[in-house]
Amino acid sequence: MRLPTNLLYLTLSILPSAFAVFADEAYNVDYHYELLGIPQPHTTFFHRPRKDEKATLLYTLSDLGVLGAVNPGVGNVVWRQFLGQDAHSETGFLRPVEGENTVVSAIGSSVNAWDAMSGREIWGNNFGGAIRDLEVLETATGNDEARDVLALFEEGGNAYLRMLKGTNGDVAWEYKDGSSDVPLQVSTNVRNVFVVSLHGSSGGYNLKVTILDPVTGKRTNEYTLTTKADIYAPEDVLLVGANSAAPIIAWTDKPMKNLKVNILGKTGDIQNLPLKESDGEITKVALHAPHLVQSLPHFVVHSHSDVSNRADVYHIDLSHKSIKLAYSLPKLPGQGAISVSSQDANVYFTRHTQDEVVVVSSASHGILGRWPLKLEKGRGSFVHGASEVVQRTADTYAVRSAVVTTDQDWVLVRNGAEGWSRLEGLSGIVAATWAEIPESESLAKVLEVEAESNPLSAYIHRVTRHIDDLQYLPDYLQNLPKRFLSSILPGESAPQKQGVLARDNFGFNKLVIVATQRGRLYGLDAGNQGSIVWSLGAFEIPAGKKWDVKGIWASPSKGTTTVRGAEGEFIQVNTTTGETIASTTPGSAPVIQSTVVVDGPLQKWLLPIGTNGEPGQVPAVLAPKEYLVVQGKNGEVKGLKFETKGDVANPVVTWTFTPPADHRVTGVVSRPAHDPVASIGNVLGDRTVLYKYLNPNIVLVTTVSDEASLASFYLLDTVSGDILYSTIHEGVDTKQPIASALTENWFSYSLWADITPTTDALPASKGYQIIISEMYESQIPNDRGPLDSVPESSSLEPSDIPNAEPALPHVITQSFLIPEAIGHMSVTETRQGITTRQLLCTLPSSNAIVGIPRTVLDPRRPVGRDPTPAELEEGLYRYHPVIEFDPKLILTHKREVIGVKDVITSPAILESTSLVFAYGIDVFGTRVTPSFAFDILGKGFNKLSLVSTVIALWVGVVVLAPMVRRKQINGRWMA
Ligand SMILES: *[C@@H]1O[C@H](CO)[C@@H](O)[C@H](O)[C@H]1NC(C)=O
Repeated sequence: MRLPTNLLYLTLSILPSAFAVFADEAYNVDYHYELLGIPQPHTTFFHRPRKDEKATLLYTLSDLGVLGAVNPGVGNVVWRQFLGQDAHSETGFLRPVEGENTVVSAIGSSVNAWDAMSGREIWGNNFGGAIRDLEVLETATGNDEARDVLALFEEGGNAYLRMLKGTNGDVAWEYKDGSSDVPLQVSTNVRNVFVVSLHGSSGGYNLKVTILDPVTGKRTNEYTLTTKADIYAPEDVLLVGANSAAPIIAWTDKPMKNLKVNILGKTGDIQNLPLKESDGEITKVALHAPHLVQSLPHFVVHSHSDVSNRADVYHIDLSHKSIKLAYSLPKLPGQGAISVSSQDANVYFTRHTQDEVVVVSSASHGILGRWPLKLEKGRGSFVHGASEVVQRTADTYAVRSAVVTTDQDWVLVRNGAEGWSRLEGLSGIVAATWAEIPESESLAKVLEVEAESNPLSAYIHRVTRHIDDLQYLPDYLQNLPKRFLSSILPGESAPQKQGVLARDNFGFNKLVIVATQRGRLYGLDAGNQGSIVWSLGAFEIPAGKKWDVKGIWASPSKGTTTVRGAEGEFIQVNTTTGETIASTTPGSAPVIQSTVVVDGPLQKWLLPIGTNGEPGQVPAVLAPKEYLVVQGKNGEVKGLKFETKGDVANPVVTWTFTPPADHRVTGVVSRPAHDPVASIGNVLGDRTVLYKYLNPNIVLVTTVSDEASLASFYLLDTVSGDILYSTIHEGVDTKQPIASALTENWFSYSLWADITPTTDALPASKGYQIIISEMYESQIPNDRGPLDSVPESSSLEPSDIPNAEPALPHVITQSFLIPEAIGHMSVTETRQGITTRQLLCTLPSSNAIVGIPRTVLDPRRPVGRDPTPAELEEGLYRYHPVIEFDPKLILTHKREVIGVKDVITSPAILESTSLVFAYGIDVFGTRVTPSFAFDILGKGFNKLSLVSTVIALWVGVVVLAPMVRRKQINGRWMA
């Protein structure tokens, strides 16, 4: 009988040494778009960080205030810095320090120098006021000292020009312009510094040029150009050529017939350059000039009409200070982009048209290189670009350009071919929603038809349907072995078919529809690493403005997504394809303050709420059934109910909550729309039950008083308007974020405040803290308080006694210290609510998202003593006042997810899993399992060994059974 032991041994040896069911799924289920924002024409350039190496990086400071370096070879981010956090104005400036490993940025009120290779800060300096322009002083003498920086500020209505030392950013000198002129630009040619400002009023400005000595900062001269008839706003001035041998300032006359140019330093001289009309009127004129002192003083004028564009190259004669036309680039249809690059003294202009890329030298009109444009489809046309021209041999050139397209992609074009593209338009998301992939309804519909027809025809119908289905049988049989193998072999499960949107058995495949501040909509496939399914330019948002989206909602029944903006604009698109179904332009409907998804008699819909919290009349067939909570004109919180009269329903204010004097309402949160509760009580260690206070009609209102440094939280009943609970915190820094969340029978919030020593464990001090409160029906276990034995209860009449007090929840609260501010809070959602919820918090200062488990945040944790065995059984452990954000809790792992505004969650079909999507500047998505993945086998589970074990046992039984039978029979005979 040696065989069975061998078999057993064999069987066991097949089993893996450990069952790692909970494999770390980091970087596998999660996805991250590391974005910059849309590069700006004046802050995007190629720069060589190391003097002796040829390699360049692509630098940009985007419209969102993100400074970044991108590898031009493959398009990945080398480093990023988010500078826009505190900047009020998003106009930033970025300049390279030629020949050095430095770039200098200025945004808001600060100027910083960065190591161009690593992105580390070299120095930073902060001033009052706002930056208006920045230049790096180009000293043609090749001394080793770091180049100094000129920063032009507007502060208290005056202009300040500061020379900052290149080594440490300290102010070398400061020039204050005592007048109230609007500072516009600073420029320099080695000998002089020029400050250009607008003098006058919006009825027309003259240009004032102040000339300063670069060494002392003393004013040496000043002159004014009469431009009142042409310049009405800073945008009307086209360009001040910066660091060049002959910097210029240019503008067009009002009808765009002439370009007017002054060579800075040439007092009172305005040169007229006629603009040639191409097709129809000129609509846009742009100037491009090199930024280096050693470059030839040439510039190009690029003029657009609605249908075509053309360009003229001009040369500046340095000795006579005159300008003459050198040559013209032909008129071409469509939009185009021209960029300038220089190598030593040579200046190159790269022209991107609809179908080719052309490189010319500024010196003569001969074409140095021409490449047909081969782009992937649907890129739109080019808006602006930055180029790098390299001379390979005496007469061969190569060019690569990073261009921004009208579809808001950032595309690298290398000799006409597409190198890479970055979806920068996806940055700056202001609203997002989950959407289910519509189910294929065909089978359901067919079955319905069969059920309704008479038995005979239903039977015939069914037989023909099955015969029809036979055509799929060969395919099915063919795929069977593959499906079997892929399901038992370890490793990736069968990859999802690309480009096919379908639901999966686990409910991981869902869409996220997002709206960006630039007026675009995107559909992302969360089940497929967040890949873009469709994108659409919904509205044209003027530069410098943000699309104020007030509501986005995907209707699960209709398969459409509706987006409403503040100015009454509205768009409805097909959720799966992004096709526009209906839309209205801004201004065509009343201004709205917010939106809410309501449940009408027929369907759910997105109700717009007008100013002062007035939704207005709605047709009776749409009248919302629920009580609504809106905010009025002065921030007061109001309860609304729709009352139907005939064909219409009117909103009626049922209650109003006015915050105390000096307080303003900063937040109102309600329970999530999908907030199922699996258990109505907490079973305690002694088998008694604490009943949860589960009122669906509650909101948590946050109010703050800036003067008194107070923050209050009120729990309101939305039906009656009763205050169920309130609390106040002192010593609150109201400028720090205050985040809150409400779900199930608990709510939490975080703030920076005095720490009131409610418990001995917390010392009195100040800091960031998170407070959690649980609501129960009664403080006594097994007691249901006033609601005991009432099958139904009403918030309006809590008991039979008239004017009875509302049934107040028993609230247990605990506070914890946390290491940093929480920007936003949300909770995970699962299908049945059996899985414990997890609190998801964004951490703006560490660019991360942390998931804090509920067990850590349990307010019933015993304070100052070890838990009793009964408490241990409940999973309560000793209270510790500090919650450290352990790297294990960080959902984003090592990834830097910047500018996250909001985190939205959605349940999967698997009860254990909640889908998470975070948006803002970056996009990040993942899946979380707060109670671990108890309903799915992990990747590490070895199905192959399970199957082989079963087979081995079966073989063993087959082999052993006859032997055992023979032995038994033999045994009988022996006996
Ligand atoms: C959305 O597009 C898909 C595919 O074209 C189509 O089957 C579906 O009916 C459309 N839905 C709506 C609501 O138009």
